[in-house]
Amino acid sequence: MDRIKKLCGFLDKCESFADIGCDHGYCTLYMLKNGLCKTAVIADISDKCLNKAERLLSDYIKCGRVSSVCCNGLKEISPDISQVLIAGIGGEEIVNILKTAYIPVSFVFQPMKNVQKLREYLIACGAEITLDKPFESGGKFYYVIKGIANGKSEYTRAQLAFGKDLNCAETKAYMGVELQKLLQYSKRKMSDVHQAEINNRITFIQKVLQNEIK
Ligand SMILES: C[S@@+](CC[C@H](N)C(=O)[O-])C[C@H]1O[C@@H](n2cnc3c(N)ncnc32)[C@H](O)[C@@H]1O
Repeated sequence: MDRIKKLCGFLDKCESFADIGCDHGYCTLYMLKNGLCKTAVIADISDKCLNKAERLLSDYIKCGRVSSVCCNGLKEISPDISQVLIAGIGGEEIVNILKTAYIPVSFVFQPMKNVQKLREYLIACGAEITLDKPFESGGKFYYVIKGIANGKSEYTRAQLAFGKDLNCAETKAYMGVELQKLLQYSKRKMSDVHQAEINNRITFIQKVLQNEIK
């Protein structure tokens, strides 16, 4: 619940909102309860998951402010929706959703893994990333990537790996945790090739933390 609360803090006021992979529907409830959108679409690939959100938001559905769609990604979602949230699924899965549809005019993504792949895709498509940093919840870090479909983003090698804001406290804390995990992991028995990969990653993070790699 703490992750949802923190994630919702990154959402902007908008006319229409879509929550793709809505599951429980809590993010849409936050938008409506706080007067942050006039209308909303809840969507999920699983009808079982979508039913949870439909139950939570039944009053808003009855009065016509929320519509629900069981579909894969953005396939049945109008590109006119002013802000789209896709949270709690993998970065590669989000890329697949975008590849088979479009990049929303304004988006908030919270990938669970493969964040770099999502950054690279958005940049290659000419999207502008306006915010890209981790937040901590329950002892874990989650990245949030916000942006707009049309614009330009220039990322360095270090930013592609760890986000736009390399000097913010959360990014540094995340890099520190990753470094410690890798240092522990590197003590295990492994092949020389794998050991070399891990050592390279450790050196990379250390250099980014010391501002030697930008
Ligand atoms: C872990 S839940 C995340 C729920 C919520 N967005 C959150 O951040 O807490 C992932 C949800 O995404 C849905 N999902 C996974 N892939 C999807 C896709 N391609 N299109 C729509 N929904 C998808 C799942 O059915 C599930 O309900």
